[in-house]
Amino acid sequence: MERLPSSPRPRWRPAQVAAPVLLAIVAALGLAACGDTVGYSSGSGDKIHGKELFKQGCGSCHTLYDAGTTGQIGPNLDYAFVQSRIDGLGQSVIQQVVRDQMAYAVTKPSTGSPGMPRDIFTGQDAEDVATYVASVAGLDASGQPIDPANPPKPAGPGGAKDGKTVFATAGCTGCHTLAAAGSHGNVGPNLDDAKPSKDLVIDRVTNGKGGMPSFKGQLSEAQIQAVAEYVSSSAGK
Ligand code: HEC
Ligand code: HEC
Repeated sequence: MERLPSSPRPRWRPAQVAAPVLLAIVAALGLAACGDTVGYSSGSGDKIHGKELFKQGCGSCHTLYDAGTTGQIGPNLDYAFVQSRIDGLGQSVIQQVVRDQMAYAVTKPSTGSPGMPRDIFTGQDAEDVATYVASVAGLDASGQPIDPANPPKPAGPGGAKDGKTVFATAGCTGCHTLAAAGSHGNVGPNLDDAKPSKDLVIDRVTNGKGGMPSFKGQLSEAQIQAVAEYVSSSAGK
């Protein structure tokens, strides 16, 4: 090929760009070959709305640094996507993976451990969540891939003392319906119907049962007392 005498320095070297782009194409083809993508995740989602939804509907089961969630039922999503970041997979690929997971999650794994409910969010809400997760998963506060050996610690419920805040941030909302908290989870019993006593809430939150994890290491005794007081006094109201 002939060189133009005064050609400016190229702004990027083809070799730097080619590998990630290729990987992205391969991954996208792989997904398409499964034949079950829920429409193309266009990247048009609203990240701020997606973050709110993630905290309500996903954080009970997933740790994600940016959202401050510490759920441990499902995989840590920073770990799940950090390798994709390091490999340079594009955001749109990660977004499509998240979007597909919401629609086609394994609801009852053969291991007997709790699975992930399908269609927690659909339509534009699902698009917003996928856009949000793809924009932050695997990245630290400065947008660099996290160091899996020394990951940043999500805030979680932190030192929250009031039961309402604990309920909203510890992950209860992802699994339980409670009108007072505006939550619609349906993995566990509807708490408005169950109207549990304070003692029952303390027992479940402390010890877990079946699909309900124990929060012993995650919440202080005072936080468990507070959330139990809140649930037992607001359920069914
Ligand atoms: C009740 C717990 C629960 C909730 C709520 C939940 N998940 Fe999951 N999630 C899981 C489990 C368990 C897995 C692993 C099994 C599987 O792949 O289905 C998983 C897997 C995933 C994966 C795949 C991670 C990987 O390693 O490949 C993504 C992405 C994901 N979830 C995103 C979400 C999003 C987004 C939401 C909210 C809309 C959500 N999850 C809500 C339990 C949950
Ligand atoms: C991953 C899903 C999940 C999360 C997160 C979760 N729960 Fe549960 N919860 C369940 C399931 C499933 C049951 C039913 C357990 C059983 O009886 O087998 C349950 C049972 C309960 C019960 C007993 C209801 C009854 O009448 O039997 C209470 C109370 C309760 N949960 C409160 C909470 C609170 C408060 C939180 C947050 C600190 C929370 N749960 C977080 C899934 C969850």
